[in-house]
Amino acid sequence: MKIYQLSGRHSSLVLAAGGGQWPQFVHWGCRTDLSGEDRDSLAGLLALPVPQAFLDEVYPPGLCPLWGNGGFSANALRGGDERQWAPQFVVAEGVESSGRLRFDGQDEVAGLELTFSLEMTEWDVLVVRAVLTNIGSRPYRLEELALSLVVPATADEIIRFHGRWIREFAQQRAAVTRQGAWAENWKGRTSHDNPPLLLVGRRGFSFEQGEVYGFHLGWSGNHGYRLQVVEDGRRLVQFAEKLFPGEVVLAPGESYTTPFLYASYTGCGLNGLSANFHSFIRDSGRFARPPGNFRPIHINTWEAMYFQHDQTMLERLVERAARLGIERFVLDDGWFSGRDHERAGLGDWFVDGKKYPRGLGPLIEKVRAAGMQFGLWFEPEMVNPDSRLFRDHPDWILAVDGYRQILGRWQYALNLGHPPVYAYVKDRLYDLLSRYPIDYIKWDMNRDLVQPGDKTGRPAVHRQVECLYRLLAEIRSDFPSVEIESCASGGGRIDLGILRYASRVWTSDCNDPLERQAIQSGFSLFFPLEMMGSHFGPQQSHTTGRQFDLEFRIFTAFFANLGFEQNLLELSEEECERLSGYIAMYKRFRPLIHRGRLWRGDTADPGQQIWAVTSEDRCQALVAVVQTGLPDNMLPGRLQLRFCRPGIRYQVEWLNRHPPQPNLMKQDVAISRRQLTVSGRVLATIGLQLPVVHPQTIMLFNIERH
Ligand code: GLA
Repeated sequence: MKIYQLSGRHSSLVLAAGGGQWPQFVHWGCRTDLSGEDRDSLAGLLALPVPQAFLDEVYPPGLCPLWGNGGFSANALRGGDERQWAPQFVVAEGVESSGRLRFDGQDEVAGLELTFSLEMTEWDVLVVRAVLTNIGSRPYRLEELALSLVVPATADEIIRFHGRWIREFAQQRAAVTRQGAWAENWKGRTSHDNPPLLLVGRRGFSFEQGEVYGFHLGWSGNHGYRLQVVEDGRRLVQFAEKLFPGEVVLAPGESYTTPFLYASYTGCGLNGLSANFHSFIRDSGRFARPPGNFRPIHINTWEAMYFQHDQTMLERLVERAARLGIERFVLDDGWFSGRDHERAGLGDWFVDGKKYPRGLGPLIEKVRAAGMQFGLWFEPEMVNPDSRLFRDHPDWILAVDGYRQILGRWQYALNLGHPPVYAYVKDRLYDLLSRYPIDYIKWDMNRDLVQPGDKTGRPAVHRQVECLYRLLAEIRSDFPSVEIESCASGGGRIDLGILRYASRVWTSDCNDPLERQAIQSGFSLFFPLEMMGSHFGPQQSHTTGRQFDLEFRIFTAFFANLGFEQNLLELSEEECERLSGYIAMYKRFRPLIHRGRLWRGDTADPGQQIWAVTSEDRCQALVAVVQTGLPDNMLPGRLQLRFCRPGIRYQVEWLNRHPPQPNLMKQDVAISRRQLTVSGRVLATIGLQLPVVHPQTIMLFNIERH
């Protein structure tokens, strides 16, 4: 038995392997250094008892449990035929090199070679993937290749992610039971209701404390996970791409590569876990970054005008946006041929001559002359039956011959795996990107896939996702100054697969700040704030009908990549003046919000959330106390900012336009004075008395070394 070790800054993974078997998990948790240990005697300590009524060989939970080795329900590789269904691999000694480990196994009977690679990055995010190659002489039908990791038996609580349109990243916390947990997504995109995310931790873990493991599969198609309590009580967590029957059939010599599984351990609560994922996403160089030095503030035209692209209104919108300090103008749906409503036009990516008789040139010139960048909406994978493209090529869609293809938002999905389709879509995008100075693409995808069959009738989601990634990669390499945003009816395609190409996401179609607080909370557990599009909408939210005050709306959109999505021409002069003040304030804090470290405070009030973004040295922070519901207690508590450095003094600056509502309190509190100086020790331990506020209030502070 040989011991293998990978370490990040604060965590280690220890595996043991020998006897031609796949490695078993010895430790994944706090950092440990085994270099001084006698690894042989360590291996001896790991020898397991063989209990009665058990197989005579015991394989503890490992990297690749298999039916062929008594892996039972944990079986990680499904597929083959009547002769290949339960492979047993002979695994070679692991190969270690610069923070990476590789294990190769061969099964000569089944004609399969399987390789797992594991990398522990310096940010404590473990990156795992596997490659299966058919080395035999017969085709191999793959059903599933799962990536397996094991967490301790003490990890007894999970947070699962679910949701729906306009409520993405909802969380459900539950105890781990013997029944385990599983989820599957067959929607052909990452999905609103089952994003490939999971948290498992020791009971009671919170933002500020506890051991937590986070998992995310970086894949924009079908996927699933299982959490099982295995024989020794530990929890085996498996993530995999989900494949329809016959979707991946490997001819001799062909390989299948799994998506990357990203996983991380922290002993420092959800804040520690977010810090690991955020810095990995920002600094590892594996994910798309925007071309400029900063991420501009947007105006998006969708909720401002939907399909009514009135030229005068557009011009006035450009002027007003620029006057407010907005930096990018994004022309949403409705600009192309026949697109007067959602039932027509998708696929015909030619500028609508009725709405834009001189093309997009004059509008773009106006936008640029006003000092803003220009962005354009596309939904390249889709076609409406009512379009020239569909009338000319009804056979270009994903469908199965002989069956009725169900419409979604009156549209079909194009089969990108069919070369003429790919060439057409690419040509239309390239034509527009070459013709006009476009800085930004909002890349949308507005339906789930049903019976996604290719021309031969074979399921084609896997290929569709690969083609999508290829197209995005080509665009990025040929138009490096163009930034791409991922949208799918809001947040239906947010994952680290698409984020290799897209550097902003449209988090949700919901601009209702109350819903947004919950959505942004879930999102930011894994993904950094600056990637998250968050738009200030009108007083009455279009998607929920609720009404909100201006400050609650704008401060909610602050902890993100700020944007605007409303008809700015409806704003009063007073509102414009206030908004340009908030925009200037956002710009002041943007470097901190977009680069700083997210810290969320634990609070006993279910109607309260505490957000802070701190500088790396913790000398500055932007802090928001968000009172979503009616305060739980008559007397509010104190705000303790436990990240503050005890040895320094901070100046606390109240950023709301007004002090708290005077009618709620007969006596004011110190914190709502414009400026206050206090030591970090007091801030971290005793805290500052909060005022009485209405529900749906955000108190915003800047705290900075004095
Ligand atoms: C989707 C997006 C919206 C908007 C519309 C346009 O619903 O999520 O932001 O772009 O499409 O049709």
